[in-house]
Amino acid sequence: MDIKSVILAAGKGTRMKSETPKVLHEIFGKTLVGYVLDSVKNITSENFVIVGHHAEEVEDFVKNNYNNAKTVLQTPQLGTGHAVSMVCPMLKDYKGLVLILCGDTPLITEETLKSFVEFHKENKSDLTVMSTIFDNPANYGRIIRENDNSLKCIVEEKDATPEQKAVKEVNAGIYCLDWAKVCPAFSQLTSNNAQGEYYLTDIIEWGKKNSLSVNAYIMENNEEIFGINSRVHLAQATKIMQHRINEKHMLNGVTIVDPDTTYISADTEIGQDTIIYPSTYIEGKNKIGKKCKIGPMAHLRGGVEIADNVKIGNFVEVKKSRIDSNTNAGHLSYIGDSEIGSQVNIGAGTITANYNPLTKVKSKTVLKDNVKIGSNTVLVAPVEVEEGANVGALSVITKNVPSWALALTRSPMRIVADWVKEQLK
Ligand code: UD1
Ligand code: CA
Repeated sequence: MDIKSVILAAGKGTRMKSETPKVLHEIFGKTLVGYVLDSVKNITSENFVIVGHHAEEVEDFVKNNYNNAKTVLQTPQLGTGHAVSMVCPMLKDYKGLVLILCGDTPLITEETLKSFVEFHKENKSDLTVMSTIFDNPANYGRIIRENDNSLKCIVEEKDATPEQKAVKEVNAGIYCLDWAKVCPAFSQLTSNNAQGEYYLTDIIEWGKKNSLSVNAYIMENNEEIFGINSRVHLAQATKIMQHRINEKHMLNGVTIVDPDTTYISADTEIGQDTIIYPSTYIEGKNKIGKKCKIGPMAHLRGGVEIADNVKIGNFVEVKKSRIDSNTNAGHLSYIGDSEIGSQVNIGAGTITANYNPLTKVKSKTVLKDNVKIGSNTVLVAPVEVEEGANVGALSVITKNVPSWALALTRSPMRIVADWVKEQLK
């Protein structure tokens, strides 16, 4: 059965205190809404992101990064139910399922969403809401059940009686709908509540009244539905993400010496027997081979492809570069926009000068196999060092270096005999 998603991202996010829309805040170089879009990418055929506040920025982001997603404008923002109703014209004759998620819950996983949809199908449900149990349920909508334990409705914190507030089962804000059956609800919601909003949560009661099969899927790992409302939440989600990703790599055969100080983006692949040393920070999309040694204190900034048995040592920053097997950059270097062969040695303090601040153009550095770069070299891109060539320490390389040659730009060393003795006379 076809599945499409609706991702709610039109809200204001006031508590972020930011000029950046909430859903474009990042964890390891990836936006919050990016995580949500990635969580559904193997499940849905099409995704609608509801935008409103800072709409243009979110639209541009989605357009430039996710070709399986469309944005739909919601102005003004009259509540979560109103937000979903924006897709009604686009899904007029649609007969499949619709998954509804929030753009600010980056920790939700594909596995959970898959079992959620499975549950919906197995129970022949028309409308399934994801719920979970929180010891401190404050601020969430509470799941209210009938005496026979079937669902009754969802009550928002602001509308709840003290008795309802004591309920610890909460609405995760994720729903699966049989679209054709539930979509009439969206023209019948009212805003008769404490916040004067059209609540999406009211579709539960509507479904019951209209004799639909309405169910809740109780999710165990409540961490996954953690929503970001402030920078404090952003840091908490980053911590959770950090440990989740590090554990995945460790279980796949990567040694992470200190998972507390190692940060690896969700889109980084790492081969077996690679060791990641403490205080390493890896953002964006990267691929690291087997038996590499990364860090301590290394920084990979995305677009980095490293083959097997490569060493990236302390205070080495790498961005948008390919590094072939058995190559070392042991200390204090910057490698950007580069293509580096195998068996290359990059001496301490080597810099690829890839950026011209006047033209704003970034250029490429190419180091072929077996090249050896002496310490404190500046490679002024665009530049190529051909196979087997050596560059002497402290050189500024502005021209291509032919194979097996030595390039050297430093001034010759001078010895002044007895100079010190002369001074002391
Ligand atoms: C909502 C649920 C609550 C649930 C919680 C889970 C409702 C009424 N309440 O509450 O039961 O426990 O999520 O996190 O649905 N948005 C729009 N347009 C709008 C309003 C909101 O796109 O007009 C978006 C927001 O950007 C956000 C999402 O919808 O991504 C949720 O809205 P928010 O106001 O945060 O809802 P909660 O109060 O958290
Ligand atoms: Ca709200």
